[in-house]
Amino acid sequence: MRRPGWSVAAVTSPKCYRTSRTVTAQRHLGQRNVNRCKISPPVIVTTQAHRPNPVALPAGRLYPEPVQTLDSVQTAAPQGALASPAVARNAAPILAVLRAHLPARARVLEIASGSGEHAIAFARALPATTWTPSDPSPEARASITAWRAEAALPNLNPPLELDAAEPDAWPEVDAQVVFCANMVHISPWAATEGLMAGAGRILPDPGGLLVLYGPYREADVPLAPSNAAFDDSLKSRDPAWGLRELDEVVALARGHRLHLTRRVEMPANNLMLLFRRV
Ligand SMILES: C[S@@+](CC[C@H](N)C(=O)[O-])C[C@H]1O[C@@H](n2cnc3c(N)ncnc32)[C@H](O)[C@@H]1O
Repeated sequence: MRRPGWSVAAVTSPKCYRTSRTVTAQRHLGQRNVNRCKISPPVIVTTQAHRPNPVALPAGRLYPEPVQTLDSVQTAAPQGALASPAVARNAAPILAVLRAHLPARARVLEIASGSGEHAIAFARALPATTWTPSDPSPEARASITAWRAEAALPNLNPPLELDAAEPDAWPEVDAQVVFCANMVHISPWAATEGLMAGAGRILPDPGGLLVLYGPYREADVPLAPSNAAFDDSLKSRDPAWGLRELDEVVALARGHRLHLTRRVEMPANNLMLLFRRV
């Protein structure tokens, strides 16, 4: 069964997942793959953008030292892998925040890993971390497995089957950090409730870190038109989805002794939220 957020129409799903076959076919035909994402924010997605051009990355600004960057993000998707052009756009900014705030040799559990491209990119760029991806969707786990097999990174574990909404059933994971991108608004609220309960249970006290990435509603910040359109489109797909009120997410986290310690504004009206176990 396909999970919400993993539509059959991979090309037009909220995150514009595309199969490697699609990408390969478009390359083979020599087409310039211009695909306008109808969800939000409206973007032109090209094959070139999908496979990030290392030269185009602001390497000097984000990576002042000679460290691993995202330059080595795959140039050809392996068989069975899904691809999200959004990852090509958001991975570098997310990595910059992770690099600044993750503990050394962090053990990271990623919730809702989706295609697995974030896991590949971050495990590669942060070789001292141990990265464990997860997703309840079999298609997602197959994709992560395909990317992982090709990447052959010693610090990237196989994907776990994990439903955030079932925190009592989470597999045993030794993690100091829980990272979750783009799930809170593309799942029922019960998934966020479970995410907080599960993170609150497994993260070390003190020092555990929960990192969220995605768009939110904020009481005293006008909702960007692109986020309003995104919210409408999510709710039309599933009334249980939609951008969450940041205050409600923060209050929920606090109930599990996870305290918002940093709010980072990200490109395209997204936020990164860091919650500490204190
Ligand atoms: C839009 S994708 C985000 C994937 C990836 N994190 C990214 O940012 O590209 C949403 C993901 O959330 C997952 N998801 C939905 N409900 C979930 C739940 N209850 N627990 C964990 N993951 C869930 C879906 O399977 C899907 O992989």
